[in-house]
Amino acid sequence: MPTMLVLGATSGIAQAAARLFANSGWTLQLAGRDSQRLREVADACGGAPVFPFDALDPASRSALWGLLPSCPDAVLCAVGLLGDQDCACRSPKEALRVMECNFTGLVPVLLQAAEAFEARGAGLIIGLSSVAGDRGRASNYAYGSAKAGFTAFLSGLRARLWGSGVHVLTVKPGYVATGMIAGRRLPSCIVASPERVARDIFRAVHSGQDVLYTPGWWRPLLALYRALPECVAKRLKL
Ligand SMILES: NC(=O)c1ccc[n+]([C@@H]2O[C@H](COP(=O)([O-])OP(=O)(O)OC[C@H]3O[C@@H](n4cnc5c(N)ncnc54)[C@H](OP(=O)(O)O)[C@@H]3O)[C@@H](O)[C@H]2O)c1
Repeated sequence: MPTMLVLGATSGIAQAAARLFANSGWTLQLAGRDSQRLREVADACGGAPVFPFDALDPASRSALWGLLPSCPDAVLCAVGLLGDQDCACRSPKEALRVMECNFTGLVPVLLQAAEAFEARGAGLIIGLSSVAGDRGRASNYAYGSAKAGFTAFLSGLRARLWGSGVHVLTVKPGYVATGMIAGRRLPSCIVASPERVARDIFRAVHSGQDVLYTPGWWRPLLALYRALPECVAKRLKL
């Protein structure tokens, strides 16, 4: 049975994905900050070991790989922090916290996974990025630029590992009904359920897709938005 390490396993999307993969015969290793909630997620998946992981704590992120009882076959990274954009665009400390949580703090463990998978000649790395990383927007450019960095990192890692038996899948969700956007007033037609996103991830894994927009209609929408000249995009103040 293949094993998947889930980073940020208390995330709404990760929980839905963990249940789906567990029901399909995968064994799970769950990592995150909140051990009590991790155990609840583990129970909902039929049982799984849990491990401490805090992307903002250098000691925790370097220790995780060594704590695992066995090298997993796949890693799903669902850690993310939207943060407070108003605060992040004025406070360098908050901006750096958002960058670290969404990007730089995830790099060490993903590089460890890449090394181990490459040496073994097989493996799968799934990184949850975001459509927000496709273009900087006035309303969330701290989070968006961190996701842009994460997307580029995953893309480079995929190119480096191509031909080694290790696959990298970049997932770019739009709005998803999880704790991350709780309290935001958004039209329900543009908010996907975490179960829908999990199903899309599951299918993308089995079809060997490189980049998944989920739901899929975000792909043409973002292509249009990226094509806007900067002199137009800046005036939209989205
Ligand atoms: N929901 C959306 O609309 C949306 C859209 C695009 C992309 N995404 C991305 O999808 C992924 C999953 O997000 P979600 O929607 O499922 O949101 P979520 O439920 O808020 O999950 C965020 C996860 O990140 C974890 N986390 C935050 N800071 C951490 C840290 N310092 N160290 C370790 N873990 C930390 C949280 O752990 P705790 O439970 O301990 O806080 C939680 O497990 C994220 O990468 C997010 O950026 C979400």
